[in-house]
Parts: sequence; structure tokens; C-alpha cells
Amino acid sequence: MENTVANQQDETLTAKFNELARKNAEALLGGGEKRIESQHKKGKLTARERIELFLDEGSFEEIGKFVMHRCKDFGLGEEYYLGDGVVTGYGTVHGRLVYVFSQDFTVFGGSLSETYAEKICKIMDLAMENGAPVIGLNDSGGARIQEGVISLAGYADIFYRNTLASGVIPQISAVMGPCAGGAVYSPAITDFIMMVENTSYMFVTGPKVVKTVTNEEVTSEELGGASTHSTKSGVTHFSCANEVACINNLKQLLSYIPQNCEETPPMLPYESNGDELRSKLNEVIPANPNQPYDMREVIEELVDTDSFLEVHKDFAENIVVGFARLGGRSIGIVGNQPAVLAGVLDINASTKAGRFVRFCDSFNIPLLVLEDVPGFLPGTDQEWKGIITNGAKLLYAFCEATVPRITVITRKAYGGAYDVMNSKHIGADMNYAWPTAEIAVMGAKGASEIIFKREIAEAADPEAKLQEKVDEYTRKFATPYRAAHRGYVDEVIMPEQTRAKLIKAFKMLENKVATLPKKKHGNIPL
Ligand code: HXC
Repeated sequence: MENTVANQQDETLTAKFNELARKNAEALLGGGEKRIESQHKKGKLTARERIELFLDEGSFEEIGKFVMHRCKDFGLGEEYYLGDGVVTGYGTVHGRLVYVFSQDFTVFGGSLSETYAEKICKIMDLAMENGAPVIGLNDSGGARIQEGVISLAGYADIFYRNTLASGVIPQISAVMGPCAGGAVYSPAITDFIMMVENTSYMFVTGPKVVKTVTNEEVTSEELGGASTHSTKSGVTHFSCANEVACINNLKQLLSYIPQNCEETPPMLPYESNGDELRSKLNEVIPANPNQPYDMREVIEELVDTDSFLEVHKDFAENIVVGFARLGGRSIGIVGNQPAVLAGVLDINASTKAGRFVRFCDSFNIPLLVLEDVPGFLPGTDQEWKGIITNGAKLLYAFCEATVPRITVITRKAYGGAYDVMNSKHIGADMNYAWPTAEIAVMGAKGASEIIFKREIAEAADPEAKLQEKVDEYTRKFATPYRAAHRGYVDEVIMPEQTRAKLIKAFKMLENKVATLPKKKHGNIPL
């Protein structure tokens, strides 16, 4: 008798344990094998495969695995999937905590329901409370159409949290499939967007609506693919060849960033072996001041080997921004790029760099500015599109930044752009100039034509007079020494010394404390 009761208890237990195992297995299959196969056929990984690639092996802990949707309208009462279209949880990347949500296209096309939104909100709340990044792996048909406004409410709950979390914890979005309609605004509020070439797209309205409203014929890829958003709109910061590259990029990006706004970025161990002199830098600047060179070459020589991760590489190429390490320290770099449009500042360059500066400042990442800028781009196109307001964004971003800030003027620093590019006057801590620096209101020719206009016109040989004045102006102003006499430049250094100087200066500044006046928030010219 006793045996029979024990056997029955065993069976009940076994049945319960088996039920859990069955449910776990079911949840792992998302929308089922057929849809997983179809996902793979499109060249895409599943939500769970992406998480596995992204997190340290065995570190993923899932939250809400058995959550199911509540809506019963339009056939949703007959079809249920454990987890409801999004896999959420936490784990580690290179040993550091991250929260992750991964949209599962195999369940109702990854579309967002009320419960799905609740799952995402739950991990966002945890991330805020515990001070760690949130990474979204996006692959979704947008609002779950059957749920109507309830789904829209779910999106809004996420947008609201994205905004409150902005500047508190890093938020990064990888777009690995469709991301359309209002759904694009969650990634847009996050700090960085990555897209996968040929399999992802983002747009507010798709090609069909575009055709109806504007009569334009355009494919999804042309309208909102990775190449469009990495070159034309600047919406995405990274265009990745495939999903694996995208996930590797995510991991590398995280390595430069602290867990939250109260921490400093992780420092890699670094010991100088006395090879900080970079004589190659003495040869970078061409003898002819109008000849271009590639600022990336300067960056590569300055930073720790292979440590430069360029952000927004193919957008507004007249300015280069990205993360690197200098003596093991994570830094953000903003460099004018003389190889493209002579490194002039235009609208796109200003907004690109302004946003990058604000990210670095939010998360305590020191800034290095490499300056070679002939000024702001003239012309009706730029003026009518608002170069004034947009250029002011970069100015504002630098003025407001309280992180350690160092500028190296490699060559030109002209006009308003001199002030804007992290000048001493707007709060830079250390300003160096190379002997090739030219710091003045404008180029020698333009300046001479204005200030010596009458003298040149009245000269027997106006051409020769102009040249004489240009030479005089160049001797006087196209040098770093006027600025150095005033202390606007702290030291004029040989290019080869720059790496060593920067390592020391950033170390000297590592405990910098600077505060802004108390306010609700500033009013950056948007
Ligand atoms: C419910 C959806 C869905 C959605 C797709 N599915 N999108 N279910 N709500 N929004 C389902 C499909 O019925 C299908 O179910 C499965 O997901 C896969 O979809 P397919 O169409 O077969 O896949 P594919 O051919 O790859 O096309 C993907 C797609 C397309 C381009 C995303 O599904 C599509 O256009 N979906 C609608 C997109 C959309 O208009 N969403 C609303 C946008 S407005 P079965 O059972 O056959 O597998 C919006 C507002 C957000 O999102 C506002 C926030 C403020």
C-alpha cells in the first residue's frame, strides 16, 4: 500500500517535471520549426541564436519565458506561443552585465503586443534600477495589428522608458529585420543603431505608402536599408555585412562604454614600453597647406594598436568620430577630415559630431579633438537648410561637456570653426598645436583681399601687392604662436610627441570635476 502511494507521488512529480521540460522545449521553438526554417532561408538567425552569439557562453538568464498574449480578437484566441514574440533577459558580455531583448520574427512576425511590450519594459526597468546597458535586437512587423491601440500603448511605454533611460544607461539597437512605422522611434532614441546589410530596413512608411502618397517607386532597401541609412540619412551608426559582424560590433562597442552614467569606462591594463614617440606623424602634414591628408592616419598613429572603432563611418565623411584607447584608456575622438571637402564643417558633420560628443559626455568618456578645419561650408544650400542652427548643436555639445577634453590643432583652425572645435574658450582642458597650425579668422588670401582692399586696388601691380599682403598675413597669423602667446594654446609640440603628451594629459585629468549651473535641462538648438 505504502509503495503504491509512493509510486503515485513519483508519477505525479515526474509528470510535473515533464510538463516543465515540455513547456521549456516548446518555448525554445518560438513560432515553430517551419517558421524557423523560413527565417534561416532569408539569411537571418532566430531571436535565440542571436542572443547566444551575443552573450558570454551559458550566461543568459531568461525572464518571462512563458508569457502569452491576452488578446483574443481576429483569431488570436486560437493561436498561442510561449514567450509571445520576444525573448528577454540578462547575461554578460565579456563578463559585464547587460539586459537584452530579442524580437522573434517567427511569432506573428515579431509584432508587438501588450504582453510583449510589458516584457521589454520589465527588463528596461531592471536595467535602470541596476545600472546596466539595454541591448535590443530588432526584427519585427511592427504593431500587432489585431491588438489595435493596445499595441500602440505598448510602444509608447517603451519610448517613454527609452527617453528616461537616455544618458543614464547605454541603450543600443541592432536592427536585423523589418523595423517600420512608429516602431523606428525606439531605436532612434537609443544611443547607437546598427543595421545588417540587405536583411534589415527602417522606415516610417513603406514603399507601398510612398507610392500612393508621392508616386515614387522605391524598394525597401533603397528607402530604408542599411546602406541608405549609413550614407544618406545617418540614421544608423554602423552598417554590418551580416548578423555575426553586427553582433561582434555590438560587443566591441560595449567594451569602450561604462555600465551607466555614474561609472567611468573600463580601463585596459597598459604599461608603456617607452615607444610612445611617433616619428611618422612628423610627415603626415603636406608642405602645401591646401593639400589633403587622411586624419585616420593621424588617429591610427596616436591610439593603441587597432583600437579605433569608427562610428558613422560612411556618413558626413568630412568629420571622423569614434572610440579608441590611449594608454589603455577609453576615449572618444572627433577629427576634422581634410581628405573630404577639406574637412569643412557642414550640417551633417555638425550633427554627427554633436551627437557623438553628447554621448561621450553622458557616459564619462574623455574627448580628444583633432582639428584641421577651414571653416563652415558656405552657400545657399547650407544656409537654407539651417547651418546656423545645426552648427550650433556642435558648439553647444562641446560647451556643455564636462568630461576631460583635449584638442590638438594639426593644421587649420579658422573662424568660428576654431571656437567650435573644442577651443580653450569653451572649456577644453588642454590645447596643443603642431608647428604646422594656422589659427586665424580666415585664410590669408581672403583676409588680405578684405583688409588691404584699397591698398591693393591702388597699387601699380595689384597682383604683386596682394601676394605681398598674403605673405605678410601668413607670417603673422597662419601660425600657432599668436594663440600660444595668449595661452589659448597650452603648448606647441612636435607631432611625434603627441601620443606621449596625450597619455599624460588624460591621466592628469582623470579626476576632473566640473559642474554645470543648476537647471531643469538646457535648450540645445534642435
Ligand atoms: C500581426 C503580423 C504582423 C503584424 C506580420 N505578421 N506582421 N501579425 N501584426 N504587424 C505575421 C504575418 O501574418 C505572418 O503570419 C508572419 O507574421 C510573417 O509575416 P509575412 O508577411 O509572411 O513575412 P514577410 O513576407 O517576411 O513580410 C514581413 C513584413 C510583413 C514586411 C513585416 O509581414 C508586413 O508588411 N507586415 C505588416 C507590417 C505593418 O504594416 N505593421 C504595422 C505597421 S504600423 P503567419 O501566420 O503567416 O506566419 C506600426 C505602428 C507602430 O507598427 C506604431 C508605434 C507608435
